[in-house]
Amino acid sequence: MIMLSGGMILANTIVVVGMQWGDEGKGKITDFLAGKADVVVRCQGGNNAGHSVYFDYKKFALHLLPSGVFNPRVINIMASGMVVHPKALLAEIEQISHQGINDIQVYLSDRAHVVMPYHLVLDELIERVRGADAIGTTKKGIGPAYMDKTARFGIRVCDLLDETRLLNQISVALAFYNPVLVAFGSETFDAQALTNEYHHYGMQLRHRIADTGVMLRQLIKENKYILFEGAQGSMLCLDHGTYPFVTSSSPTATSVPLNAGIAPREINQVIGVTKAYSTRVGAGVFPTEITDQIASTIRERGKEYGTTTGRPRRIGWLDSVVLRYGAQINGTTGLALTLLDVLSGMDELKICVAYRLDGNIIHHVPAKYQDYLRVEPIYDSFQGWKEDISAITSYESLPENCKKYLQAIEAYTETKIAVLSLGPDRTQTVVLDPSIQ
Ligand code: GDP
Ligand code: IMO
Ligand code: MG
Repeated sequence: MIMLSGGMILANTIVVVGMQWGDEGKGKITDFLAGKADVVVRCQGGNNAGHSVYFDYKKFALHLLPSGVFNPRVINIMASGMVVHPKALLAEIEQISHQGINDIQVYLSDRAHVVMPYHLVLDELIERVRGADAIGTTKKGIGPAYMDKTARFGIRVCDLLDETRLLNQISVALAFYNPVLVAFGSETFDAQALTNEYHHYGMQLRHRIADTGVMLRQLIKENKYILFEGAQGSMLCLDHGTYPFVTSSSPTATSVPLNAGIAPREINQVIGVTKAYSTRVGAGVFPTEITDQIASTIRERGKEYGTTTGRPRRIGWLDSVVLRYGAQINGTTGLALTLLDVLSGMDELKICVAYRLDGNIIHHVPAKYQDYLRVEPIYDSFQGWKEDISAITSYESLPENCKKYLQAIEAYTETKIAVLSLGPDRTQTVVLDPSIQ
């Protein structure tokens, strides 16, 4: 934290966290804030994430790389809590290079876990076994890679550089998985062939492999401006989300210190990114989901199709029970409200303020999945606004009904809006809390 003259405190370690079910616009907000940052860190997840960034009439889709790569002076760190498919990482670096982004500063933690080809096959098989209860994963092998991490036969990035160790680890994993693959009628894997392939990836990436915990702790000491870019969203959290329809890591701000190798007290601010409505991709409970014409209109205007899988996103009204829960578990100090422009032209807007369960009004997210499926949302209704707000540059210029909607969000979530996003482009951003930049 840096104290400026006049007593203003400038936050210099900020977590950008998803408050809903992912795809809130974390990539856009991180890229915007990265204009002033020194370091951007991805802490968890892998290429199940899809973060879209627009500037200079160009669109970029990042899955593994932090959204600081568009600023040549920013150091980008892929921290130890991530699970990384090295082939996908090399392809992504090449892809953005074709789009004119070269000489990026990216470091990959030697402690991060590696997504192996058998993880992708296992992801498919586990989904198949679940049948009607399939989670609708991104099929990127994320769950199985984290399973191996906790089972202690995961492959870590540092192993890629040591052929003997790599062969040993892969052999242990395959001794377990090859019989499983046979039982499901799938092809088995050869430990030596995988070792050769993955050692090669390690050698291609070796100039980027580092103890990123050491780097980060030093950068913090030097008072650098550091952004921690969340992936997924709080409701997809393995511990606090809508289990079992969740991802296999914790996307919350709480997980950042653990996943980055820093102390909890080093986090100054937490910016919770939320859409002005809700979306969810994949299966699972979604109390405020709507499937009518309004949903189709929002989907088309907001281009609500997955960045990673292209799947149409499910649409719903804003859910302040979810946002309040997210604000509490993340310690959200300010909201970044995105896609507000998409709501222009609607006659009526709704915000869910509580749930009804078995005749009782509740204000929390039930743990029991079957209970959460049964809740009925209780809504407050708001008049919409007709004006196009995508070129507005100050809060004062927003239509009155739009301001009322924003004030209601602040009241229901007990959290101030720090940033407004009125379009996908970097320039379509209004900062309301000057301490974050
Ligand atoms: P992330 O995973 O949280 O980074 O979000 P995604 O990139 O997957 O999805 C957010 C989508 O909304 C992307 O297509 C963004 O370009 C787009 N987007 C972000 N902010 C805004 C906004 O304020 N208005 C509009 N219209 N689109 C936005
Ligand atoms: P970003 O970072 C939206 C969802 C999947 C599925 C569940 C489990 O772009 O916000 P997984 O492949 O992780 O095992 O899938 O989580 N999911 C996401 N949904 N945005 C994401 O990331 C997601 N990452 C995973 O759709 O429901
Ligand atoms: Mg996304």
